[in-house]
Amino acid sequence: MKGDVLKPFANAIGETEYAELLGQKGRVVWFYGLSGSGKSTLSDALNRDLHGRGRYSIILDGDTIRSTINQDLGFSDADRAENLRRTAELARFLAKRGAIVIVSFITPFRAVREKIAGILRDVPHELVFVKAGIETCKKRDPKGIYQAYNEGKIKSLTGVDASFEIGPHDCELDTENLTIDETLRDLVRKIRI
Ligand SMILES: Nc1ncnc2c1ncn2[C@@H]1O[C@H](COP(=O)(O)OP(=O)(O)O)[C@@H](O)[C@H]1O
Ligand SMILES: [Mg+2]
Repeated sequence: MKGDVLKPFANAIGETEYAELLGQKGRVVWFYGLSGSGKSTLSDALNRDLHGRGRYSIILDGDTIRSTINQDLGFSDADRAENLRRTAELARFLAKRGAIVIVSFITPFRAVREKIAGILRDVPHELVFVKAGIETCKKRDPKGIYQAYNEGKIKSLTGVDASFEIGPHDCELDTENLTIDETLRDLVRKIRI
């Protein structure tokens, strides 16, 4: 039914012209990892680094998206999957219009990551594993959510009582043994951004 009614308009300005205007090709860098592993920190560092090199990039961060366009969604499995589906569609939409899109979401499930890769099939994209062990993440606890879990204020937490599936991915970053700057340099070299 929907397919009969909706005919997306074929806009005259396409990917090539956006690339010419911006002097770059759109792409998606998708960070996944435990809470506290360093996704938001590295997104911000990469964004700053790209900006300094005259590149146009946009961050889609889990908490920001959840408190804005996805504020209608909760934390059931279906809502978590929908949260990621919408974000992947948005990332693709922006990348096709020339932006370098930096996404940082826990993205714990392999099957959901495969769906995301399907949505991003026609834009260059890399899945980056931001690696830090659960003990390190608990110690860092930048948002106090591990503490909140211990106090019984949150019912379920990825890596503690909800599963987190590792791999496959295009790139892995060790945030436990490298400084933020070293990790950024490692990323830039590995994905050639
Ligand atoms: N190499 C590193 N890369 C990223 N973050 C690091 C690194 N080393 C230490 N940190 C610290 O770890 C914490 C990561 O927090 P955050 O980026 O909010 O995690 P996430 O977004 O994955 O939940 C920050 O306090 C940051 O300063
Ligand atoms: Mg974060």
